[in-house]
Amino acid sequence: MNKASAFDDWDNAPLIASIDTKERHSATGGAGARQNSALEKLQTKQLAVYPDQKRVVNGRADINQLAPFKYPWAWDFFLNANRNHWTPLEIPMAQDVHDYQHKLNPAERHVFENVLAYLTTSDILAMRNIGLAVMEKMSAPELQIYQARQVYEEALHTWTYQHCIETLGLNQQEIYNRYRVVPEINAKIAMANRRLNGVLQAGRLLSNREALHDFALAYLFFAAVFEGCWFYNGFSPIFALQRRGLMKGAAEQLQYIMRDEVLHCAFGIRVIRQLLQEENLQLDPQALKIMWEEAEAVEAAYAGYILQESILGYNAALHSAQFRFIANRRARQLGLNEPFPGAENVLPWLDEQANLRKEKNFFETRVTEYQTGGGLAWE
Ligand SMILES: [Fe+2]
Ligand SMILES: [Fe+2]
Repeated sequence: MNKASAFDDWDNAPLIASIDTKERHSATGGAGARQNSALEKLQTKQLAVYPDQKRVVNGRADINQLAPFKYPWAWDFFLNANRNHWTPLEIPMAQDVHDYQHKLNPAERHVFENVLAYLTTSDILAMRNIGLAVMEKMSAPELQIYQARQVYEEALHTWTYQHCIETLGLNQQEIYNRYRVVPEINAKIAMANRRLNGVLQAGRLLSNREALHDFALAYLFFAAVFEGCWFYNGFSPIFALQRRGLMKGAAEQLQYIMRDEVLHCAFGIRVIRQLLQEENLQLDPQALKIMWEEAEAVEAAYAGYILQESILGYNAALHSAQFRFIANRRARQLGLNEPFPGAENVLPWLDEQANLRKEKNFFETRVTEYQTGGGLAWE
């Protein structure tokens, strides 16, 4: 819709202008009224918001006016996100309690507990990062609306881990402190804090190109690495148990979370691409190279810790190899060079886990389906 057709239509003009116009008409009348009308129409046009005034950051269009959209894809993300709606209480966990106590061996329990410990800390960080730092910098409401949903989803994920931890009777003092005392878990959180805290602060101005570049790189790290690789790949040790019929309730919870995270990652990548285009910014290739290398190193150390002993069907080498494969995918989605050329898809079943289309007699849980995988564009 072009400017003229959008705002020559008075039904769509800002409410405040319509009221003002009506009052003045009743006070004047005749030729004066016609003159005033023309003037007010002009003023209203100046007040109106046009899509091309919107920007990802530093825009001046009214942040309280949702439409017309400049970024209709952001609204579609919001609608899609609402198709994946659940609470952790809906997924039966009784068999998981039995599996955890009687079927998992010590190496499998070690993997399970430490993956949960990492994920729960990460999701708190994700919630705060999006809600307190990224969202406030967006200057188009359709971007903020999806991120508001994302903030809720990160909180829902935290609830989900807490529900699993409580249901299985794990020691909360121990699980929640693990990231502080296990160096290999701490290193991932520390890297995220270092890359996000300095740049993604509330109130930080994006007033020059260096600040814009640092913001883009930090949000890229958050969306493409933290969510797009570390979360996406981070669920896979528990999916490996699920594939053997173990911890199926917890794994199903993680599948719901994974669907959210794929959307978070895809949205973030879309925003970053838009930002780079609007601001005519180029990311520093050396800074990107360092980021990917750091991310790989801490992920490999983490895999070495959680999989000190391999479990059936899964080991540290597979975990690291899959990180490199997913990292390449995220780079391609960003329009960047692959950081790990030649990386192979060593866990081809992982992508299938993102598609929650339930098969009869497989999950054996509730019959409700919120959305079939075909309705959601993941990648
Ligand atoms: Fe999350
Ligand atoms: Fe997320």
